[in-house]
Amino acid sequence: MGEALKFPDGFYWGTATASHQVEGGCRNNQWWAWEQEGGNIKDGTTSGIACDHYNRFDEDFALQRELGHNSHRFSIEWSRIEPEEGRWDGKEVDHYKRVLESLHKHGLTPFVTLHHFTNPIWFEDQGGWTSPKAPDLLERFAGHMAKELGDAVPFWLTINEPPVLPAASYIAGVHPPAKRDFRLAMKAAKNILLSLGRMHNAIRANAPHKPIIGPVINMTYVMPASDSDDDKEAAQSFDQYWNGYWLDGIRDGIIGPPAGDGESVDGLKGAWDIIGLNYYSRSVIAKAGGVMGLRQIPPPMDSERSTMGWEVYPEGFYQNMLRLKQYGKPVYITENGIGTDDDGQRCSYVVRHLREVHRAIQNGVDVRSYLHWSSTDNFEWAEGYRQKFGLIATEGDDLKRVPKPSAYVFKEMAEANAVTEGLAEQYLE
Ligand code: GAL
Repeated sequence: MGEALKFPDGFYWGTATASHQVEGGCRNNQWWAWEQEGGNIKDGTTSGIACDHYNRFDEDFALQRELGHNSHRFSIEWSRIEPEEGRWDGKEVDHYKRVLESLHKHGLTPFVTLHHFTNPIWFEDQGGWTSPKAPDLLERFAGHMAKELGDAVPFWLTINEPPVLPAASYIAGVHPPAKRDFRLAMKAAKNILLSLGRMHNAIRANAPHKPIIGPVINMTYVMPASDSDDDKEAAQSFDQYWNGYWLDGIRDGIIGPPAGDGESVDGLKGAWDIIGLNYYSRSVIAKAGGVMGLRQIPPPMDSERSTMGWEVYPEGFYQNMLRLKQYGKPVYITENGIGTDDDGQRCSYVVRHLREVHRAIQNGVDVRSYLHWSSTDNFEWAEGYRQKFGLIATEGDDLKRVPKPSAYVFKEMAEANAVTEGLAEQYLE
């Protein structure tokens, strides 16, 4: 018999989205421009009207509530708010005020991300994250939003997945501007870390109440490919770039390697109330030639993988939560999910990953939310619409919302505030 795994009272259950992936019509950002060039998105699609969530948010939130959710994470599209440098568009601010009103009306606690991969075209043209102006511009944007949206926002998340931004845009070259230049990547990594502190402080200074503020770090669980000293060293430098640089950087207020030498920065130390954690998979690292002197070993063919090719590895989720304990901040799971065409696999994935959250809580980690990626299937960046991450499908020309079986598995857990006995029996050995 399975045993129910109870979560603490007040635990947040919901989903996460990002403006560009669901809203549709985000014409003023660098992703839109890059999509129009052709050849950059694997399946040949472009974001287009996406899930038309810009117009259908109220209907979407009503459905999420029906499906048992009590919270929702979304992002504000900076390129709508500031379509030209220094010009604020009040109509778009009003749009997000309506989004927040709708969330509150449906009983969904909002978690608001300020930067989720997209840059206004004017900012990208200045060099985006590599520009020395980046921290000033992000600080100003964060302050503006905190003032405008006021106490409708209890949770602010500053930047989504800081390590991905330089890695995907300036090392792997798979996100715009698709460059491969380690020097630019390190400039971006430094400006992003500086911006995390500056945005935190700007929100604190401008919000009329005392919101809870934090970054969203996507930790991968890093393991060396072998016991050799070379592989262990390579894994350590990968881990430092991906995890330690950001976490220790904020805790200690320093720019550590690989982007700095440990120099202190004013206003960065302790600039977080909480840690947002995204988790998808592990990374097995071996020493190699080339950038950073390492390479990632692909998962074995017989391992369980997603359609993204990522290995399903719940143990790494647990290990990452445990590692966060040392920072002494509450942990909010801000993303976890799977790209798959097999919704049965998603059901099993979500239950198995929630078991790890439960295990982490049992072992003293203060985890307070599980926000699944994602609510509806949506535009999966350079992969396009082919990748399906949603609990809810969008079908036909009218993008009809159709909950998948996993949406009901999730509902059962959200309503019981537990992995129920029945689900434990079905999905957990
Ligand atoms: C995250 C990202 C999301 C979503 C997800 C699934 O890295 O924040 O926007 O794309 O991955 O790949």
